Amino acid sequence: MAVTALIGLQWGDEGKGKVVDAVSGSVDVVIRAQGGANAGHTVKVGDTTRVLHLVPSGMLYPDVVGLIGNGVVLDPFQLIAELDALASSGHVLDGRLWISDRAHLVLPYHKEMDEALELLRGGGAIGTTKRGIGPAYMDKAGRVGIRVGEIADPGALRERVIEQVEAKNRLFGALDVKLMDGAAVADAVVEATRRLAPMVTDTVSMANAAAEQGKEVLIEGAQGSLLDVDLGTYPYVTSSNCHLGGLLSGSGLPPRAIGRVVGVAKAYCTRVGAGPFPTEDNGEAGQQMRDKGHEYGSTTGRPRRCGWLDLVALRFAVRTNGVDEIALTKSDVLSGQPSIKVATSYVVDGEETTDLPAGVRFDGAEPCYAEFPGFDDDLAGVSTFDDLPGALRDVIAFVEEACGARVALVSTGPERDQTLHR
Ligand code: GDP
Ligand code: IMO
Ligand code: MG
Repeated sequence: MAVTALIGLQWGDEGKGKVVDAVSGSVDVVIRAQGGANAGHTVKVGDTTRVLHLVPSGMLYPDVVGLIGNGVVLDPFQLIAELDALASSGHVLDGRLWISDRAHLVLPYHKEMDEALELLRGGGAIGTTKRGIGPAYMDKAGRVGIRVGEIADPGALRERVIEQVEAKNRLFGALDVKLMDGAAVADAVVEATRRLAPMVTDTVSMANAAAEQGKEVLIEGAQGSLLDVDLGTYPYVTSSNCHLGGLLSGSGLPPRAIGRVVGVAKAYCTRVGAGPFPTEDNGEAGQQMRDKGHEYGSTTGRPRRCGWLDLVALRFAVRTNGVDEIALTKSDVLSGQPSIKVATSYVVDGEETTDLPAGVRFDGAEPCYAEFPGFDDDLAGVSTFDDLPGALRDVIAFVEEACGARVALVSTGPERDQTLHR
């Protein structure tokens, strides 16, 4: 069995959608395994740019089968909107997109709760996407979540939704949040999920069968390793495991099914929302990254915080995911920087370290940099790795040495064909 797991190595938005699409011409099955519509994966083909939140990114190829795995929290209204938008441009997914009966539903009260909890956090707000992700995973862990399989019985589903709205209303009352109308929410949920019912199946069995038959299977990670609820910059993280472990538990595939782990990293770093970001650059360099890289959130439109590549964090993510190959994206965005910096260690409490500290001490981490000459070349026409500017290849060699993983793919632009394989 040789399944490929593709994982974001930073704080999300590394270009996972672009890379998944670029390699999906030869893929049979693409699986989303964790997260939900907090993900925004951009795929640009020709003049059309699409942002996919729940639909696996490889599905713009007509023969690719997509699975929304058991680890995903699924907003049925969002999925329907996405399916409608795709259908209107000729991408019909019926018969090749399947949803796990074990996945959990994100319902309107989860989004209300997300907003309310952020307000309660005050100055300590996480800056969530407000897609209801945290509250949906809270319900899952609290064992009161509603699973997708329950939509098969609309009468029972209606009762369950009403019961949950009543429970949430008790909290909303205490928080001074407007109460929800359980019957109205339940009717809307029953209506929306009716449409999705034909897509619901046992994706765990499908994923395992595909892997056992030697099909080309790709698990598309969402978010990034530094947003992982266990290994990320807690508490400024998402509520799922975005590491390899979460991709396994969220798809139902066993560890030995994985043949290759591809980690996607930007040639610099970005972060949306609050939390530690030692290499953040609030000066000209960071602004140039934001302008040239169009660093505005795909899901929320928020400006992304920008800064230099952080090898302390990258090495940690490569190590904890067992990354075999790095896909380095947005290398073109560095063009025009007078020099290129990469952080090699931090000073924390007066001591230099190459280990990633846990959240609390991370806040005061001061990065130490290695500095490289910049380059001015436009990478748009570059078609082989060896034709990349020498200055960029030097940075790549340094990254490989520091992380102990090969850079096997370099992305030089948002287009499918702006992808150099090595
Ligand atoms: P994801 O969440 O990891 O899929 O990443 P996003 O789609 O949220 O953000 C990546 C952004 O960078 C999107 O706008 C992509 O179209 C764009 N992008 C991806 N790869 C490249 C690249 O190599 N160069 C440039 N300039 N843009 C890229
Ligand atoms: P993709 O898959 C970037 C961030 C949010 C916030 C924190 C918690 O496109 O890379 P949540 O709504 O998950 O409770 O928010 O996580 N976040 C992302 N940042 N890319 C993402 O997904 C993200 N998904 C969540 O900005 O800081
Ligand atoms: Mg994104």
